[in-house]
Amino acid sequence: MGEEKPRVTISVIKADIGSLAGHHKVHPDTILAASRVLAEAKKRGVIKSFYVTHIGDDLVLIMTHYKGVDSQEVHEVAWNAFQEATKVSKELGLYAAGQDLLSDAFSGNVRGLGPGVAEMEFVERPSEPVVVFMADKTEPGAFNMPLYRIFADPFNTAGLVIDPRMHDGFIFEVLDVMEGQVVELKTPEESYDLLALIGTPSRYIIKRVYRKNDREIGAVVSSERLSLIAGRYVGKDDPVMIVRGQSGFPAVGEILEAFSFPHLVAGWMRGSHHGPLMPVGLRDSRVTRFDGPPRVAALGFQVKNGELIGPADLFDDVAFDETRRMAQLITDYMRRHGPFMPHRLGPEEMEYTTLPEVLKKLRSRFTSYEMGYKPVVKTGGSSEEVD
Ligand code: 13P
Ligand code: 13P
Ligand code: MG
Ligand code: MG
Repeated sequence: MGEEKPRVTISVIKADIGSLAGHHKVHPDTILAASRVLAEAKKRGVIKSFYVTHIGDDLVLIMTHYKGVDSQEVHEVAWNAFQEATKVSKELGLYAAGQDLLSDAFSGNVRGLGPGVAEMEFVERPSEPVVVFMADKTEPGAFNMPLYRIFADPFNTAGLVIDPRMHDGFIFEVLDVMEGQVVELKTPEESYDLLALIGTPSRYIIKRVYRKNDREIGAVVSSERLSLIAGRYVGKDDPVMIVRGQSGFPAVGEILEAFSFPHLVAGWMRGSHHGPLMPVGLRDSRVTRFDGPPRVAALGFQVKNGELIGPADLFDDVAFDETRRMAQLITDYMRRHGPFMPHRLGPEEMEYTTLPEVLKKLRSRFTSYEMGYKPVVKTGGSSEEVD
């Protein structure tokens, strides 16, 4: 028996600490400020390697280390990096400086304090490809559809049929963000139950995916919903995700294929509109039209001896030109709806914006109206008449 191999952790932690020209993009000086904190943590041996980048106005820290998920030390490094970047952001008068830092004090873990967190821990394979996805102007549920395609749809992922190591399927851990509960569902046998939940991406979010035959982790998503933490609209939740590829997991090309369809996601202007998720390279990692359209970038790395090798800027490729063109067409089409649903989000998603204020203001002006029948409202399975 050989020595037990160490478990490496990859932590992707992100926050919007203020941005250049409204919610357009991160300022390079804030990236530098965060990088300095991470370089110092690497020197101290807290983290093994790191890469600091951004998607639109969100600063993203990608780190590897041997401290496990939810490590207080690593989270503190991330928190300090965001604090230092916020100082620069305030000096430069960047927009919404410190936006996602909902608390002033670090309390051992950044979860619940505002930053988004996706972390996974594994024993490195001889070759360990991982893809880090980062999205701006949308919410964690935006990854539901692509994750289903990647790990459960054989029309996307040939390996589900062809590769014996994937043929048994996967386990999806789904989080109900309203109730704070999780449920595990297996594919292919529980696909329809899974789809019944994750088709409501504002509430049911795929948090993790495991390979069924050995419970190896395949994917993890940041699931923070800022409005549910803060109790009001403070910006969208702009998620990050880590996916492992190849050798018993979907090939990197199968992982990317799931983003060739620019599906509609919630977010965009003021976090209150549906729009297409457009895959882009880092050079287009910024938002313009109506603060969008919502974007996703994908960085490919190899993890070797705990080091991040890379990145490869995976959507920076002509193969996604037609996807982007379709996203532009959908952008035009959706925009012409102006303030109407389904471009604007539904009332349940608008509750943290001005809608309740408008309703409150108009409350006394509503008068009863004789409709010629009594409306019947269904509540909890039994119907009752409304007076
Ligand atoms: P290679 O034979 O080039 O390694 O490709 C295998 C594979 O997984 C392609 O998706
Ligand atoms: P962010 O969540 O990316 O900061 O965007 C907020 C917004 O209101 C965009 O219009
Ligand atoms: Mg912002
Ligand atoms: Mg953002």
